[in-house]
Amino acid sequence: MLKPLRVLMVEDSEDDAVLLLRTLKRSGYEPAAHRVQSADEMALALADGTWDIIFCDYHMPGFSGLDAIALLKMMALDIPLIVVSGAIGEETALDCIHRGASDYIMKGNLARLGLAVERTLEKKDMRDRHRKAEAQREDALEALRQSENKYRTILESIKEGYYESDLKGNITFFNNALCEIWGYPEEELMGLNNQTYTDVPTAKKLYQAHNRVYRTGEPGRMFDYEIIQKDKTRRHVQSSFALLKDTDGKAMGFRGLVRDITELKQMDKARQESLERLHKSLGATINAVAGMVESRDPYTAGHQRRVADLADAMAREMRLEESRIEGLRMAGMIHDLGKIAIPSEILTKPTKLTQVEYQIVQTHAQSGYDILKDIDFPWPIARMVLEHHERIDGSGYPNHRRDGDILMESKILAIADVLEAMASHRPYRPSLGIAPALDEIAKNKGILYDDDVADVCLKLFAEKRFSFTT
Ligand SMILES: [Fe+2]
Repeated sequence: MLKPLRVLMVEDSEDDAVLLLRTLKRSGYEPAAHRVQSADEMALALADGTWDIIFCDYHMPGFSGLDAIALLKMMALDIPLIVVSGAIGEETALDCIHRGASDYIMKGNLARLGLAVERTLEKKDMRDRHRKAEAQREDALEALRQSENKYRTILESIKEGYYESDLKGNITFFNNALCEIWGYPEEELMGLNNQTYTDVPTAKKLYQAHNRVYRTGEPGRMFDYEIIQKDKTRRHVQSSFALLKDTDGKAMGFRGLVRDITELKQMDKARQESLERLHKSLGATINAVAGMVESRDPYTAGHQRRVADLADAMAREMRLEESRIEGLRMAGMIHDLGKIAIPSEILTKPTKLTQVEYQIVQTHAQSGYDILKDIDFPWPIARMVLEHHERIDGSGYPNHRRDGDILMESKILAIADVLEAMASHRPYRPSLGIAPALDEIAKNKGILYDDDVADVCLKLFAEKRFSFTT
């Protein structure tokens, strides 16, 4: 089957052209040819058409093979051109090839034509393929450059420091943010080892953390540590890192992100300190209030603190959370705050109270609540104060609340209060001692007092030998 071939002929002799085309056909080609005879015609043909090959006569009136080669070069076209000529010397032929012709053929020896065309087209095909591969390589390089640019832009626009290190921890790559966080100029940071910018214990911890990542291949957890900048300033950083692998998946180092958390840490410390100050002043305020109540009722001096102590011990035995115990303790310290509203004659009366006086004393639970209810404690202190005389069967005061409606803390407070009150000296009676107080709790557990809380209290005295400090 004949191979189609688009042929441009630069030839003044029609006979020679016909002969050439015939020879081409015999060599297995199906030429579609166009013949031109001047530079203008050739330029027009080159601009208008696409050509697989050009055959060019060396000698023409007013135009030559060398002119044609120069024109092709000027138009920057890579179309194979074979010079076809009568008798030209070998030197002239070589000159043609030197200037850009693909080959030359003697008109008297057209038998070589087929082979020459085949070789010329093969070379052209190789050039095309090479050019295409080059273009693809260039495209790939450009894509890589763009991708590198993109990641470099990202790296330089983030506030986090980014680094890569070898397996020994020497920094091999980093962004500007890392220079700023580390406090080293770029040229000094390159190759720096983590032992240079941390103290010995931190370097050891860093080594262990990186070693874990190396062994497991898993990314490291967030890691806080302190670095020492070049000017010896210490900064807190938080870092996460992972293994850096080469294209074969072999570990070649680490890469990580680092955030400067120094300011955050300082703010956190300041917040913590202010919280502690608040806490201390709250404790001091509660103590002051407790003292104020007891100054009006000297016979019960120390009662609130001892109730707080016992409630605290019970709550610990019940494994209540530390923060709840703290709230319970504070409530214990001021649970009789409402007595401030009761005439001191009643509070200090050495004889038994009348019914009315007793009712007045009972108002202290509500009064205490009213004083405290608008204070925004982190615990329900007002409610514990309100409920400390409630009983689980609803026989208590002021609201006759029942079991499920009474706070656990209030139930603890109730038992501690009864126990301490019975065991202590009162204006109208001497101390009854601890035994009858414990009897009262044991007898009424599950009736007046919460079953479990009562058991905890009895156990505290029986097994743990709890005793009130004076
Ligand atoms: Fe009370």
